[in-house]
Amino acid sequence: MELHWRLLTFIVILQSLLSQGFVLQDDRKCKYGRIEKLLRIRCYDLDLKEVPQNLKTSVEVLDLSYNRIRKLKSSSFQKYTDIKFLMLYENMILSVEPGTFEPLTSLQEIDLSSNGLTTIPLELFQLPRLRNLYIDSNELTSLDLRGLEKPIRAPLEYLNIANCELKELPDFGIMPKLWQLNASKNPLDNFQVDSLANFCHLQVIDLTKTQISQCGCQQVTNHIMMLGANPKFVPVCMEALDVRECPLPYNRTIHSPTFASCQTSVQLAETKNLWLFAAACFGGVCFVLLVVLYCFVRCRRKRVQKRMQKRKPFVISPRNAINRQPEDEPLHCDIART
Ligand SMILES: *[C@@H]1O[C@H](CO)[C@@H](O)[C@H](O)[C@H]1NC(C)=O
Ligand SMILES: *[C@@H]1O[C@H](CO)[C@@H](O)[C@H](O)[C@H]1NC(C)=O
Repeated sequence: MELHWRLLTFIVILQSLLSQGFVLQDDRKCKYGRIEKLLRIRCYDLDLKEVPQNLKTSVEVLDLSYNRIRKLKSSSFQKYTDIKFLMLYENMILSVEPGTFEPLTSLQEIDLSSNGLTTIPLELFQLPRLRNLYIDSNELTSLDLRGLEKPIRAPLEYLNIANCELKELPDFGIMPKLWQLNASKNPLDNFQVDSLANFCHLQVIDLTKTQISQCGCQQVTNHIMMLGANPKFVPVCMEALDVRECPLPYNRTIHSPTFASCQTSVQLAETKNLWLFAAACFGGVCFVLLVVLYCFVRCRRKRVQKRMQKRKPFVISPRNAINRQPEDEPLHCDIART
């Protein structure tokens, strides 16, 4: 009996503490911090239903994972244009209004995994800095790429579309910088090896836990070997098929026009950079020359000025010289007066 009473009192006290917010309140707020000099705000697991609008607008790393956000609105990130890393995994996001991600021109990485998305917001592919896209564990069954502008603008290096019920690899067009593609845990029963021609710098591809056909498996393996990529996450093919049954994939992959255009786009970017660099060097040299020339002209003019001043008493009558005294003071930066 005694024990029961004690337990009861304890529970009552604990409850009053909780209701007054002594115990949990501090934990229920977004936390500010820095990570590698970037301003980070962590709002994970706070039962949030919307993107909070009262945060510091200079946030660069925003963690909104483990909340109850259902919808992203075009105004959700309007204020937070400095975000570079955005975590939205483990929410309930079902829809994304057009224009939601458009203001995020600094965005480098977004994690939208484990949500209820049925399609990928296509505007993500046009973000000029986006390198890493995680959209795994969604149900991308109604993925419609007709509105996708190709080639995409985002310099994607990492793409995770694992566990999304995909029947084939979606055709996002060439991705010259992509080095890791994770498509595991998708059925991929319509997989065509042609889709790999879009990635000319692929190093890792994860196709484990898919139902890719025997021939598909063999062709991917052939292609990966020829590319020099890592075959570790390509499923082991169970039987070796004859070339008549399962042709070599190269004229559909590395010897295809798509693959060639992927490679030239990289070369183009490189030459463009080289030209930009050369132009910058030239500009710099010109600037230095101009500065030197300017200094030279100024020094010369000053010297002439000084000589003129020294000569003045001989030229101007003594009276005039006295009257003009204040103007004859040697003024450093004033050339206009003479
Ligand atoms: C691919 O993604 C799945 C699910 O997100 C993950 O379990 C797996 O480790 C990833 N594979 C690689 C190679 O990173
Ligand atoms: C690829 O090569 C095979 C023979 O190896 C040929 O039958 C097929 O038509 C070629 N495909 C294309 C697209 O050129």
